[in-house]
Amino acid sequence: MRAVVVGASSGLGRCIGVDLGRRGDQVALLARRYDRLVDAAKEASPGTLAIACDVTDESSCQAAIEEAAAGLGGIDALVYATGIGPLAPIEKHDADTWRRVLETNVIGAAVSPTPRFRISRPRAVSPPTCPHSAPRSHPPGRGSPAIT
Ligand SMILES: NC(=O)c1ccc[n+]([C@@H]2O[C@H](COP(=O)([O-])OP(=O)(O)OC[C@H]3O[C@@H](n4cnc5c(N)ncnc54)[C@H](OP(=O)(O)O)[C@@H]3O)[C@@H](O)[C@H]2O)c1
Repeated sequence: MRAVVVGASSGLGRCIGVDLGRRGDQVALLARRYDRLVDAAKEASPGTLAIACDVTDESSCQAAIEEAAAGLGGIDALVYATGIGPLAPIEKHDADTWRRVLETNVIGAAVSPTPRFRISRPRAVSPPTCPHSAPRSHPPGRGSPAIT
């Protein structure tokens, strides 16, 4: 499987990306902190790609997806593990904070699989073994679209 993991420089995305690479999938790791992506790619497997990307910048995001598609020879699955959640009482969140949260958590997820790539076929993906992930109560669904 050729997988892109967005938000792969730390946390869940890093865990998923490294595990996919270790189990033999071809993986591209995306996030803003390139040095961390390079470290994660080394941990994953030879050939794992590290690509800098800011999901709040649509052109950066689309360029990164294109680079990943070219490097992997296509994309079968995209994991969007990017997420921010500023911790503060709600009255202390200003409009800019809300915009950043929406741009990162919602709009970025919508623009990552850029529409100019063709969604070709569904694929079931079994979950990787993250140390802190909860056991699934149901089998994985039909899974991610493929991008070619
Ligand atoms: N950890 C858990 O157990 C858990 C459980 C349930 C839900 N969640 C949710 O899952 C999401 C991720 O959690 P996490 O613990 O993995 O967080 P995390 O360690 O902070 O990871 C967030 C990832 O998103 C990337 N990111 C943030 N802003 C970005 C941007 N503008 N462009 C590109 N990449 C960006 C970060 O990389 P850069 O900073 O390098 O860009 C990082 O790789 C959050 O929404 C969280 O609420 C987490």
